[in-house]
Amino acid sequence: MFSKFVALLPTAPRIFAAQPRFFSRTLPLANGEFEWTDPKSEDDVVNITYITRDGSHKKIRGKVGDNVMYLAHRYDIEVEGACEASLACCTCHVYVDESFYDKLPEPKEEEEDMLDLAPVLKPNSRLSCQIILNKELEGITVTLPRITRNFYVDGHKPEPH
Ligand code: FES
Repeated sequence: MFSKFVALLPTAPRIFAAQPRFFSRTLPLANGEFEWTDPKSEDDVVNITYITRDGSHKKIRGKVGDNVMYLAHRYDIEVEGACEASLACCTCHVYVDESFYDKLPEPKEEEEDMLDLAPVLKPNSRLSCQIILNKELEGITVTLPRITRNFYVDGHKPEPH
């Protein structure tokens, strides 16, 4: 009885049912550490200084694997991040201290495309959500630009995610 019923079904649902389904997922650390954890040991520590829009220096004890944008959020430093590191905006734009710029991996094409949209672009501009701390970056300084291209209404203050 059941087999007769199945035989009457249109073929498409049976084809889909017979196909194996594949799912993919993003690697959790593909864009660096999002979890707010402290360094496990001194060997993990990477010190970073953020120069904010008002010119103040905020020295932060980061760690190997930290994403520079999410680390800023953790310490209430006003780096935006409208697209949450998916390379679909330029609101996390920073200037990297020139002595460290060459220690960073080359920007991906998508990062360069987004940087082209950033106001006040400089040769040492990078998207902070694409910078992952490592020991070579010990002592790095990043400077927030005076303005960003903001998807939010004026006056919006980004909250840590
Ligand atoms: S948060 Fe959008 S590209 Fe960095």
